[in-house]
Amino acid sequence: MTPIPIVRTVAGLRAAIADWRALGLRVALVPTMGALHEGHLSLVRIGLSRADRVVASIFVNPTQFAPHEDLAAYPRDEAGDAAKLAGAGCHLLFAPAVSEIYRPGAATVVTVSGVSEPLDGEVRPGHFAGVATVVAKLLNQARPDVAVFGEKDYQQLQVIRRLAIDLDLGVEIIGAPTARADDGLALSSRNVYLSAEERGRAPQLAAALADAVGVLRAGARVETAEASARARLIAAGFGRIDYLEVRDAVDLSRLGPGPLSPERAARILAAVQLGRARLIDNMAV
Ligand code: PAF
Repeated sequence: MTPIPIVRTVAGLRAAIADWRALGLRVALVPTMGALHEGHLSLVRIGLSRADRVVASIFVNPTQFAPHEDLAAYPRDEAGDAAKLAGAGCHLLFAPAVSEIYRPGAATVVTVSGVSEPLDGEVRPGHFAGVATVVAKLLNQARPDVAVFGEKDYQQLQVIRRLAIDLDLGVEIIGAPTARADDGLALSSRNVYLSAEERGRAPQLAAALADAVGVLRAGARVETAEASARARLIAAGFGRIDYLEVRDAVDLSRLGPGPLSPERAARILAAVQLGRARLIDNMAV
């Protein structure tokens, strides 16, 4: 297998993309923080279906981690990731150092109000400003036709959709379905933090959300469906539940109490601690 070319500077990235543009080729960007799994490779495949060339970026973005979070421990394996990307048919890897992305004196932060504020916006203050800033920079550096993000980070996806519209970035943001293990657990780089015993229990999160979707579709009240899903997770020995809520699928405003209106697209979203891992998942209602 031919190794994937790696560029580490914005100038190198822009030069490679300019060569493709000179040939009239369409470009897709797949931003990641590395530790790639099948979910990331599915984003690459979607990029390949929508563009002639796919660039993946690997950048563990320090500004989206709070001081107490797992920045130092975040799994890193650039050589392994590069091999996986090459195998998936990705054309270029952009793997900049922190100093290439955040230059001395950097003073601009992108904040997206509204959709950034509830859920992870409350539990992880500053997280979405870090995400929005780095994604705005990556989109501006690569200027792709399309960029692909996973629905697993559903609130992040909605934040990015909003910023791409608000900043007139001229890029189509594509949301990719969550990749799951056979037992339903959403794939995540952070699943490596689960012990074998916790890994056995982890799929109950997806099962609880799927059951809640079923009862909501059958006309259950939002607060009843949320409460029984939460109770199931507590009974299964999960730890802190940061949130488990049914929200509007676009702006993530609160829905309920009472049954859902069939006119309004809804999403159920959850973030739950299990051992050292903070699991997030969501499903369309
Ligand atoms: O989802 C991720 O991996 C990151 O939040 C992203 C979008 C690459 C920004 O750092």
